[in-house]
Amino acid sequence: MATLRTLPLSLLLLSLSSYSLSTPLPLSNPSSSFKVALIHRDSPYSPMHDSSVSSSDIFGLSVERSFFRIRYIRSVLAGKSSPSKIESPVKVAPFEYLMRVGIGTPAKPYWLIADTGSDLTWTQCRPCDICFKQKAPIFDPSSSSTYHPLKCSTPLCRALEGDRICDGSSCQYQYAYGDGSATLGNLSTETFTFESPKSTIASLNPSIRAKSSSGATGINPTKTSTSTSLSTNHVIGAKIKGIGFGCSFSNTGNMGGDGEAGLVGLGGGPLSLVSQIGSSISNKFSYCLASRHENNTMSVLNFGKNADISGPNVSSTPIVQMKAIPTFYFLNLSDISIGSKRLHIPQGTFDPSPSGDSGLIIDSGTTMTVLSSMAFSSVLKGLNKTAEFPPLDNPPEPFEACYKVPDPHRITGLPDITFHFSGNADWKWEPRNSFYIMPKNVVCLLMGRSSDISILGNMQQQNMVVEYDLKEKKLSFAPARCSQF
Ligand SMILES: *[C@@H]1O[C@H](CO)[C@@H](O)[C@H](O)[C@H]1NC(C)=O
Ligand SMILES: *[C@@H]1O[C@H](CO)[C@@H](O)[C@H](O)[C@H]1NC(C)=O
Ligand SMILES: *[C@@H]1O[C@H](CO)[C@@H](O)[C@H](O)[C@H]1NC(C)=O
Ligand SMILES: *[C@@H]1O[C@H](CO)[C@@H](O)[C@H](O)[C@H]1NC(C)=O
Ligand SMILES: *[C@@H]1O[C@H](CO)[C@@H](O)[C@H](O)[C@H]1NC(C)=O
Repeated sequence: MATLRTLPLSLLLLSLSSYSLSTPLPLSNPSSSFKVALIHRDSPYSPMHDSSVSSSDIFGLSVERSFFRIRYIRSVLAGKSSPSKIESPVKVAPFEYLMRVGIGTPAKPYWLIADTGSDLTWTQCRPCDICFKQKAPIFDPSSSSTYHPLKCSTPLCRALEGDRICDGSSCQYQYAYGDGSATLGNLSTETFTFESPKSTIASLNPSIRAKSSSGATGINPTKTSTSTSLSTNHVIGAKIKGIGFGCSFSNTGNMGGDGEAGLVGLGGGPLSLVSQIGSSISNKFSYCLASRHENNTMSVLNFGKNADISGPNVSSTPIVQMKAIPTFYFLNLSDISIGSKRLHIPQGTFDPSPSGDSGLIIDSGTTMTVLSSMAFSSVLKGLNKTAEFPPLDNPPEPFEACYKVPDPHRITGLPDITFHFSGNADWKWEPRNSFYIMPKNVVCLLMGRSSDISILGNMQQQNMVVEYDLKEKKLSFAPARCSQF
């Protein structure tokens, strides 16, 4: 199983301040709107999919990763306020979604982690001193005509703050992790090619395509492309020049490879992809995560105008950005309802603090929603009062509330759960979205307890379009059938 490798570069971003970078980057696609496939690591489309593992085991691992993810987020927050609070190293790669991105000219395709919880986009580069194993050949800057290392004096390099090394004029970054793991690379710019979802499906190997082609995506692959270069006739979503990224040549410590070659940073800090290309994409991106209970579905990540959502069922709430840690998207959660009953959670419970001792973030890389302990206890108490069945005495770990129901596929007798965000934005889950079906007619609440930070995880974001407006600092959401995208 994979390890720390996503962490150190993410942790580079510990000391970013939120000043804005230079002028927007030119998009070759004049519509400034494009979309890419977002593939869950466990989906049959994923290069990491292991068909020998049962779906309940896969889901168990995914829930388990939530807890590693919380520790990761906590360590990023803690590193900001007091480095001594950094917890012991994470043993599992804390991420969930992948996207396929072409790097360089000619473009070489890589599977990269799509991560709303970190900023710097990076891949492993040649010549590599110490790299973890990855599926695709390691990116070789010397074979790309558009690769340019960045100088120390550039705004992007300065955005690295304490993690930059300026030896001579070239900009390097280094992050040392608590257990001796470290990563080191050259901050550079490069052309990135974002392929359309259709091209991504077409690039998958034929056996996966055959398995998936009857799926609900409506995507019917007609072309194939080689695995070593983007085919010439593939549909380009967008080609963007001059994206600042990390060319990593040393990853030491607890590293291993599941197939991915690095990460795309979708966080709110100045180094992230979405911040860098900001005004070219109308400062907007959105995703619609397909249900993981349905087979053969694929999710979509939209950039630019097509990320816009509007209509009667759209709710919006402010994104609260903390100056000290602009990476994370905090939301102002004011109360929770179980059924029609408000829990009256004390005001200020979810007010964000830069130390990470409180606040709620929305994150695509966390599976299960977690709530600060007091709020979670209120939720359990509310469920106890409303549920028509007694809770199980010994719920299986890591769940804290499980119920035996007559028909787990049509859950009745359990309440809806609503999060009330500021701005009258209610995010409501029917029982089938907030409970996980276990064997023997048992269903378990897909929420957990955290000692501090609260996280709105990706299970609770399924079948919702979620739009991030980085300029208006606004998150909008609306129910949707994501597998149709
Ligand atoms: C990083 O930059 C140095 C020069 O500053 C160069 O010698 C080295 O090959 C570069 N490594 C990678 C992986 O780009
Ligand atoms: C998904 O596929 C698995 C195995 O192929 C099957 O057992 C399951 O019933 C399918 N689920 C749905 C919702 O179609
Ligand atoms: C809005 O929600 C209502 C009730 O859930 C539904 O009937 C209606 O179709 C939705 N409208 C749109 C535009 O999605
Ligand atoms: C919920 O009810 C169970 C038993 O009915 C009890 O053991 C548990 O403490 C209750 N939890 C809360 C939070 O009230
Ligand atoms: C959160 O929203 C409440 C009202 O819903 C408001 O009183 C409070 O100041 C807001 N907190 C932050 C941090 O914006």
